[in-house]
Amino acid sequence: MHTNKFLELNANENALGMSDSARLAIVNALDRGFRYPDNPRAALITKIAEINGVPDNQVSLGNGSSENIRAVVQMLQNQALKEGKKFQLVVPDPTFSCAEVYANSIGASVVKVPLTAESYDLDFQNLQKAADEFDGVSLFYLCNPNNPTATITSTTTLKKWVESAPENHYFLLDEAYSEYVTDPSFESGVEWVKQQLSKNIIVVRTFSKLHALAGMRVGYAIANPQAIEAVETFMSVDNTNLSGAVAALATLNDKAFLELSLRTTNQSRQRIEATLNELGLRYLPSQTNFILHEIKGDVKTYIDRMRDNGILVGREFPPITGFSRLTLSTFDEMTVFIKVLKSFRQKGWV
Ligand SMILES: Cc1ncc(COP(=O)(O)O)c(C=O)c1O
Repeated sequence: MHTNKFLELNANENALGMSDSARLAIVNALDRGFRYPDNPRAALITKIAEINGVPDNQVSLGNGSSENIRAVVQMLQNQALKEGKKFQLVVPDPTFSCAEVYANSIGASVVKVPLTAESYDLDFQNLQKAADEFDGVSLFYLCNPNNPTATITSTTTLKKWVESAPENHYFLLDEAYSEYVTDPSFESGVEWVKQQLSKNIIVVRTFSKLHALAGMRVGYAIANPQAIEAVETFMSVDNTNLSGAVAALATLNDKAFLELSLRTTNQSRQRIEATLNELGLRYLPSQTNFILHEIKGDVKTYIDRMRDNGILVGREFPPITGFSRLTLSTFDEMTVFIKVLKSFRQKGWV
């Protein structure tokens, strides 16, 4: 059921909708809705552990990965304070704002390090500098691929950096979009946790994107057992909704849906890239289910005009200006978007 009359291409959701298997699993679980979700929750943890090749005690299930992100920020601040140390969050700018918002809410200081000019990559030197100049514990929150740029960070550089970091530098690697990555050089932080590259890595993942379960609120963190135990003390008890747990389990077992989901996004990416090439609009190389592209004009006006045409897009992510973020959706929704974008070109608006 869609209640919004707009085409929603602004929140990086998955417009395919939940898989039929997820819907069925939820309906079948309704009879157990009066019980606590212990069993499906435990089954989902085991399944996630199996997929990632780690034991169950290296998984923390979240009410969306944003709960895991909040818990990691809180846990590290708490740990630092207990040891009489200061704590700060270091984030690239722009990036997904959740870690920063939580850090602000608990009075932790946040240092924002702008992405590099032109290519919009992580500025390793300045990120490192922000932590080196700080007398305390630093947590780097790094989305890989990043949101809103949709680009990945060089695996070689990131891995070397994490590996050689001092004990008081922690890495929260947000891999919400990792399933979409096509670049063969990409390596997940989960591998680094398994290789024990550093004890200071926590990776978060979500069911909100490829698995099309944003409304069901399921995500997770993977780290070494000690870190997971510490994070768990800041997570809500029984945080996983029964529906979310069974839907996530069913979707993980639904290979056909996952393939369709990936194929749909890849196809939409190719069509949008072809359109942007045709119109001569620059875009960053997307490794996700969204793309950041130039619009050659004022982004706010562009967003308003799209809205007038029934399409929600955007937004602008300062300090990057002149670019709009577009969610890669279904074939039909992309067809509508392409038509409207081309009509904008005819009017000289993009
Ligand atoms: C990088 C990133 N992390 C996390 C999330 C939120 O995930 P969840 O729905 O699991 O809380 C998003 C949502 O857009 C995101 O872009």
